[in-house]
Amino acid sequence: MDDNPYRAIECGEPGRIGWRVRYYDSLPSTQIKAADLVTTGEPTGTVVIADCQTAGRGRLGRSWHSPAGLNLYLSVILRTRLAPSMYPQISLVAGVAATEALESFAPGLVALKWPNDLWLGGKKTGGILAETAGTQSTADAAVLLGIGINVNLDRDQMTPDIVARATSVRIATGKPCDRIALAAALFERLNRRLGELEQSGFGSIRPLWERYSALTGKRVTVINGSERQTGVVKGIDSDGALLLDGEGGPERIIAGDVSLEGAYGQDGE
Ligand code: BTN
Repeated sequence: MDDNPYRAIECGEPGRIGWRVRYYDSLPSTQIKAADLVTTGEPTGTVVIADCQTAGRGRLGRSWHSPAGLNLYLSVILRTRLAPSMYPQISLVAGVAATEALESFAPGLVALKWPNDLWLGGKKTGGILAETAGTQSTADAAVLLGIGINVNLDRDQMTPDIVARATSVRIATGKPCDRIALAAALFERLNRRLGELEQSGFGSIRPLWERYSALTGKRVTVINGSERQTGVVKGIDSDGALLLDGEGGPERIIAGDVSLEGAYGQDGE
């Protein structure tokens, strides 16, 4: 018997995202497995999915809570033609794709928090971690697009550090959500939006990102290492940088952790 529950949604020609799903009951991290597969020649479009992760990774060295049987943890192997300077835009575009996929399961609740947090009803339900693998100067280079989405996680299954600021599709909508159907919608939107990025650049996708932005017009604080900037978000620019109307004038932010004033009464991630 096939023990890959995602087999039914593998689709399309080799190279399309989701044409092949490599499924594992448990992995330290789908990012680590995807990086191993890249070194052994795994083609573009393969998606590595784990039912649970024992060392799931988040942005900025954080961990990603990854219990079994509930959520989506996946890494897409992308051997892209895009220049490395456009890699930050890949994760923004993936954020748009994931938000569009979530929209059909949680209508009216979705939003994006720069750079790539997926929000439902004002709390974080998912995140995107784009990393590179292989040697960038050779044909084995790849971007690993790691996506984690809390699908059916309940409050009592959260760790204390995330309970105030995290949610799931199930919590936000009050209904269980089919992880496999959500993954299929995600593959479809990723193919469409990343195809547009490759063909026409970020310009056509930027307005979509802006439409979902939870931050535009809001006062935020951005922390990057020892630097701290406060201001009102004006939007993002054509490179995907966050534009702030700061206390000392316009600011262009390319990295950092953004806290929305008044969110959850604390760090706001
Ligand atoms: C974030 O910090 O917001 C990004 C979280 C990314 C988590 C996903 S889960 C699948 C993939 N494997 C990992 O170890 N991390 C990413």
